[in-house]
Amino acid sequence: MTAQIIDGVLIAREIESELKIRIGKLAFKPILSVIQIGDDSASSSYIKAKAKAANRVGIELQHHHLPIDISLTDLNSLIDKLNSDSNGIIIQLPIPETLLSCLTRISPEKDVDGFHPMNLGLLMRGEPTLLPCTPAGIIELLQRSNYNLNGKHVVVVGRSNIVGKPLANLLLNKGIDATTTICHSKTKDISQHTKSADIVVVATGYLNTLNEDMVTENTIVIDVGVNRTDDGLVGDCAPNVANKVKAITPVPGGVGPMTVAMLMSNTVSASEQ
Ligand code: GUN
Repeated sequence: MTAQIIDGVLIAREIESELKIRIGKLAFKPILSVIQIGDDSASSSYIKAKAKAANRVGIELQHHHLPIDISLTDLNSLIDKLNSDSNGIIIQLPIPETLLSCLTRISPEKDVDGFHPMNLGLLMRGEPTLLPCTPAGIIELLQRSNYNLNGKHVVVVGRSNIVGKPLANLLLNKGIDATTTICHSKTKDISQHTKSADIVVVATGYLNTLNEDMVTENTIVIDVGVNRTDDGLVGDCAPNVANKVKAITPVPGGVGPMTVAMLMSNTVSASEQ
């Protein structure tokens, strides 16, 4: 049996249409500032996708491209300026470790990536805040595809601060009400967990993290991986997973466009405040 394909492009476009209406009600054009440090090619292509989406919905994306050897002092000065001039600010990751503290320099109310400890704390408490884009996009993708999460067992494979940990917290919150398990590189027998799941989210960044022996015919799989191979972009799932499970997100065209749509959505929310 071939799995149902959960189309992230289609759902992202639906969200963009809703955002255009909200932007039309604002007295100004929202400004999203994107800071890129160095010349990571993946970062450049993500920023291109964000600029295209911003253009479609009517957000002005300002790209600040800085050298890899920028000092923390200079970077923080730019962030201070953008905290007063922009509606939303993101720093495209990865950046050098010595600069990571700049993430907390962004005002929490402008932190449209949802990476600030204040926003992550509010998320954990189940209080309204700017949510990290990939976890928020995954929830939207499932809900808009009519997969009810209430009481479902969701296994998240991967414990990153950007995806695994915030997603597990979001799924637990009242109103979503999933039961969550987080697996990681030290988990014993990951397949014992994934086989008992209703939904498996794979976000490790490693090829073939999930294979067909680790899922059932009833599993819904969300593949967050973006791995560049000789065959092009592929996710964290082995190709044969799609031949077995009930539904799966494609790579590309699944979670990626949803992450971008949620960044636009956070920028509109920050502008409405
Ligand atoms: N690098 C990989 N994913 C992301 C993301 O969602 N936001 C930012 N800023 N950088 C990233």
